[in-house]
Amino acid sequence: MEDRIITTSFTEEDIDYERTLRPKRLDEFIGQRWVKESLDLFISATKGRDEALDHVLLSGPPGLGKTTLAGIIANELGVGIKVTSGPAIERAGDLAAILTNLQLNDVLFIDEIHRLHRQVEEILYPAMEDFELDIIIGKGPSARSLRLELPRFTLVGATTRQGLITSPLRDRFGVTCRFDYYNEEELDSIIKRSAMILGVAVDDGGSLEIARRSRGTPRIANRLLKRVRDYAQIKGDGHIAKDIADKALAFLEVDSFGLDRLDRQILHTLLKKFGGMPVGLNTLALAIGEEPETLEDVYEPYLLQLGFIQRTPRGRVATERACTHLGIDYPGGDKLS
Ligand SMILES: Nc1ncnc2c1ncn2[C@@H]1O[C@H](COP(=O)(O)OP(=O)(O)OP(=O)(O)O)[C@@H](O)[C@H]1O
Ligand SMILES: [Mg+2]
Repeated sequence: MEDRIITTSFTEEDIDYERTLRPKRLDEFIGQRWVKESLDLFISATKGRDEALDHVLLSGPPGLGKTTLAGIIANELGVGIKVTSGPAIERAGDLAAILTNLQLNDVLFIDEIHRLHRQVEEILYPAMEDFELDIIIGKGPSARSLRLELPRFTLVGATTRQGLITSPLRDRFGVTCRFDYYNEEELDSIIKRSAMILGVAVDDGGSLEIARRSRGTPRIANRLLKRVRDYAQIKGDGHIAKDIADKALAFLEVDSFGLDRLDRQILHTLLKKFGGMPVGLNTLALAIGEEPETLEDVYEPYLLQLGFIQRTPRGRVATERACTHLGIDYPGGDKLS
């Protein structure tokens, strides 16, 4: 299997690595100042009243710290956390089992909450609003509905696709936190923190070079750090300075903007194969051999953020900026209007 920096499938080792580096408290969580400050306030206020925190929705691109923050919320509140995900809750009964097992004020973390099944989502509404669960017992004419009281709890939902959350669900969250890509300085701090935990020697130049190429994403910063560390061990004395980071990243085919081979393939496909014309998501996905969802969730947001692609009603187009970065001729502005 190809070992990619930007990935949606994780090995056991990846998961362990992330766990080791995951901040546990709010003050270790770097960046997302606005998110941190508002949560800090809500958490302190809630603890003062000895209540469950309002339900929290965390949204943003993969690897920006949503799962990390869900864990931090539970730690800071001093309560338990139960972790599940939208697609894992297949039937209403599965959710009922989870909800009835919660302790007072616990956090229930539902990852990929935009992928909840409809019937499951409907059970969630009264649970979130009134801490009640309506369950149907039996079938046919003898079926009856039973109302169960639930302990108060905090639902923390995470999604990479806020746009896919239904409005009745969205309206039931009291707190919504939208994650932005991290700036270089923040990524630099994250890399230094990780290097300290891992016992890796990295200097300012080395750390900044990795930060610059991490596409605004802590997960990628940590993954790059690991690869650069391996490279530095084999090709150098293990110390990560700017020049060794540069060489390692060139070896990994991560360019100065943090684009990897697939990002460049996306841009080349749009510009060369389709000559700069708008291309639909599915067509583009097929042309590069990726799933449309991966393209939309993982690759596109960063290319959009850089201004390298644009979404038009007729499809995706690569911009003149992208051409400049790739050093190729722009196929012509007239086609893009
Ligand atoms: N603010 C932060 N400070 C320090 N490290 C961070 C921060 N945010 C994320 N990380 C690191 O990045 C890794 C990925 O974060 P996390 O798993 O929380 O992302 P996510 O948003 O849940 O991603 P996904 O959408 O793929 O589930 C974590 O292991 C953690 O070490
Ligand atoms: Mg996550």
